[in-house]
Formats: sequence, C-alpha cells, structure tokens
Amino acid sequence: MKTVNVLLLGSGGREAAIAWKLSQSPCMGKFFIAPGNAGTGVYGTNLSLNPTDFNAVYAAVCEHDINLVVVGNEDPLVLGIREALTDKAQKDGRKLLIVGPGRDGAALEGSKDFAKHFMERYNIPTARYATFTSETVEEGNRFLSTLRAPYVLKADGLAAGKGVLIIDSLEEAQKALRTMLAGQFGDASAKVVIEEFLSGIECSVFVLTDGTGRYLVLPPAKDYKRIGEGDTGLNTGGMGSVCPPPFCNDEFMAKVDERIIRPTLEGLRSENIDYRGFIFLGLIKCGDNPYVIEYNVRMGDPETESVMTRIASDLLPVLVETAAGNLTVEALEEDPRTAVAVMAVSGGYPEAYEKNKVISGILNPDESVIFHAGTKEGADGTILTSGGRVLAAVSYGDSIEDAAARSYKTLEGLHFDGMYYRRDIGKDLL
Ligand code: AMP
Ligand code: GLY
Repeated sequence: MKTVNVLLLGSGGREAAIAWKLSQSPCMGKFFIAPGNAGTGVYGTNLSLNPTDFNAVYAAVCEHDINLVVVGNEDPLVLGIREALTDKAQKDGRKLLIVGPGRDGAALEGSKDFAKHFMERYNIPTARYATFTSETVEEGNRFLSTLRAPYVLKADGLAAGKGVLIIDSLEEAQKALRTMLAGQFGDASAKVVIEEFLSGIECSVFVLTDGTGRYLVLPPAKDYKRIGEGDTGLNTGGMGSVCPPPFCNDEFMAKVDERIIRPTLEGLRSENIDYRGFIFLGLIKCGDNPYVIEYNVRMGDPETESVMTRIASDLLPVLVETAAGNLTVEALEEDPRTAVAVMAVSGGYPEAYEKNKVISGILNPDESVIFHAGTKEGADGTILTSGGRVLAAVSYGDSIEDAAARSYKTLEGLHFDGMYYRRDIGKDLL
C-alpha cells in the first residue's frame, strides 16, 4: 500500500492509543492529531483545531493533503462530519476517506430511542423499554409501575455520559422522569427512554465495518465505570480496562456474533445506512446470553487503551479499506497476552477538580505504555493536567494480575497533586 496521510480527530486517551498504534504503520505518511494532547505529539503533529468545526477540519485536510480522516469521538459524527467533509471534497474533486458513520448511522449513539427501535426491528436482544415525552408523562409513570426496581431512565440524546439514571424507588423514578423531561439534560432529555433493569456483567465489543456487510471484530474489553473501588460511587468516563475479559470466551463471542453483530449489520444495510467505521457494542452478559445496553459509534475510552495494545496486525491498511468500503482483511492478529489499563484521574473527578498540576516522574516506563488523556504542555517543557482523566498506564502480562501489577508499578513512579486511581482494576475477574 502507498503511504497515507492521516488526520485523527480527538484529544483523549482513546485517540492517544489509536495514534500510538497507527504511528507504527509502515504505510503512515504524514500524521496529524487534532487537537491531540501533550502525549500525542510524539506520534504525529498536533493541530490546534476543534473537530466539530468542519470548515477548520477541511482546511487542515487541504493544507496537509490528508487522505484519511479518522474520527475518534462521537460529537462530530452525530453532527454530520462525514456529510460535511464528503460534500466539500466532492466539490473540490478531492479523494477523501473517512472512518466514522454519517449522521444516519451515528443516530445509533445520538438517539437512544432510535437505537432501541432499531434493535426491536431486527430482534436484537436488549432490555424491554418504552419512550416518553412531556406529553406522555402519565403513561411513563404507569409504565414505570409495571417494572421492577431498580428503574433505568435514559435521556434520548447525547449527555456526555451522564444521561442514564438508575433509581431504586418507584416514587423517585417518577419524579426523575418529570425532571428529565423538564430539561434536566437540555434537549437531550426531551425524550426519555425507560427500560427494564438487566443484571449481569458488562463488556465492550468493537466491530469495524465497511458498509457492505464485511466486518472485523476487535478484541473485547471490560471497562470500570465507577470512581470507587469495588464499583462504588459516581459513574465516570471509565477508570480502567481489561482486554480480554475471560468471560468473553469463544462460546459467548459466537453468540454475540450471531445474535447481535450480524443482525446489526443486516439492519443497517436494510435501512440503506452506509456505515463505515467502528461500532461499539455495550453488552451485558445475563446468564450466558448477551444483551445490548447501548450502541456507540466510535471506540470506547478507556477500552481502546487496552484493545489497541493487543492488536498485532497493521491497523492503518484496515482503516483505509474500511473507509473505502473494501475490507479484505479477514481477521486481526491478536497479541496473546492480557492488557490492563489503569486510568489516573484528577482529585475530585468526576465532580469538580483542579487543573494545571505538574505531572512528574517516569513518563516513559519500561513496563508499560502511558497514554496521555487530559494533559497539555506547560511552559518550559513541563506536562500539566488539563482534564479529569489525566493518563492511562497500560501493560501486558501473562495474566490479568501480572498486567495490572505492572500498570500499578508504573503509576507509583508518577505524581501530580491529587492524583487518584483505582487499585482494583481486573480484581473482579480473577
Ligand atoms: P449507557 O449510557 O446506556 O451505557 O448506560 C450507562 C450505564 O448504565 C451502563 O454501562 C450500565 O451499567 C447501566 N445500564 C444502562 N442500562 C441498563 C439496564 N437496562 N440494566 C442495567 N444497567 C443498565
Ligand atoms: N468506556 C465507555 C465509553 O467510552 O463510552
């Protein structure tokens, strides 16, 4: 394959991990990350632009002769970056490949109501549900009273991962329904999906598809969402990940393939949705069976940090083929080891926290790879914190225990004021 000039959009640990992986490709030409973080500048050139400013993204495409745009986060996708860039490129007679669905496909993440209807249409296993608006609050209250506690209420639209409430009492749930519909999450909660609570163990499965029904399944991972050890306290963007979780065995993954991946791709095709990019299946294993909790239209963070380290194949040609609608690679080679990512966060996160703390210690450890997330360069070459999730230490091991121990050793060699991380990533799987 000729070399490819790539623009990767995003700035989190996920994009750092994708950048790390892509930068190792012999097919990589010029490589830009926008806006990136203090760590991604090692893999390519950071460009200071906002991924939802499509004019600025397209100007960068032209200036740097970009062949492939990889969209890391969901916002630009839900806002229609594929359509915007494709349109501009067509007018200019420019060939531009994009990894990431159009607005139609991105609705799988952008609207929970759309996603639930979609699953219903294609018999994809998911929790029983109904959707309500301010006109149908009373029906909503009645529907809640037909369910058993706890009650799951979800804002229909994007709410930065905060739009899902799980409530123990019926009365509180009915109150929450009103508050949500009254605009608790702005327009995102103008519709609220109420669903049956499923109990089981969660995992994340990632599919890369080229719009023609061809697809690859990436190594599965488990995310740790709560701030506190033992899965307690507030939900976060994710505090660590394990790839692969042992319960995602061949038998389970075969069910995921047959009951979820294939019907999802067939559904997209039968609705004429030309989906080229990542599909993130947020799954729950109830008994031995997989159910879909949610779809996302991008990779997960911090799952990507452990998943990328376990992909042995060159990912860049695979992304080019995906974007071109011509996926020929039949399977990804996987590193046989286990990978464990542990996220270090700012003290106080996911509530208010301080930024601009100096990060000191060993940022290039032997035992692990460090992926920056909320970091930026300070004056005089220092690295400063600039977000809640600051960086992830990812390590390989022969077991989860071994990989986790290496990540912990690495984090012990790092410091910033208020630094916090969970010390139990992977423990539940031992
Ligand atoms: P979501 O944003 O849809 O992934 O929901 C956030 C989290 O809420 C999920 O990761 C689950 O832990 C939990 N959750 C969502 N829906 C359900 C459900 N129907 N049953 C049990 N837990 C759920
Ligand atoms: N780790 C969950 C997410 O990226 O949405």
